[in-house]
Amino acid sequence: MIKEAVEKAIINQIKNEEHSSRLYLSMASWCQVKGYPGAAAFLFKQTDEERMHQLKFVHYLNDRDGYSQLLALDNPTAEYSSLLDVFEKVMIHEEFITASINDLYEVALNNKDYTTGNFLQWYINEQIEEERTMHGILDKMKLAGNEAGGLFHIDKELSALAAAKVVATLVTE
Ligand code: FEO
Repeated sequence: MIKEAVEKAIINQIKNEEHSSRLYLSMASWCQVKGYPGAAAFLFKQTDEERMHQLKFVHYLNDRDGYSQLLALDNPTAEYSSLLDVFEKVMIHEEFITASINDLYEVALNNKDYTTGNFLQWYINEQIEEERTMHGILDKMKLAGNEAGGLFHIDKELSALAAAKVVATLVTE
């Protein structure tokens, strides 16, 4: 049986991942209506990926004889000043998620729950990858500046990144 403190921390992380999914959906929607189809496609894929992160926790906690309850969520940000602003906010959010995964890992180890610690390794690696990807996108955006040609090029690159992204499907039985 999973300890209550670990269960509580996982339930909080389920909320964080669900919020991530909704935040990226909100950003994808903004990009779509502002004429950035590549960025929108990329963020729609991110939305699915965050949903997968959420589900992976839901199944894990239930499999450990816990109960994955859902918590209330805040509204995701709907207004952005530019494409750069969107991706700067993605970066800030991913850094927040990395910190929250690290906090959860600490709770697991403090409770001698090494099984959860082991399970969290996948998320720790995933966060390294997510932060690296977002840093790369931000660096290119800053190089491109705010002129239309540069942004058009970045949007095409994001479209290619989205096409290459395979969101793993979860085995749920
Ligand atoms: Fe599930 Fe991008 O953090």
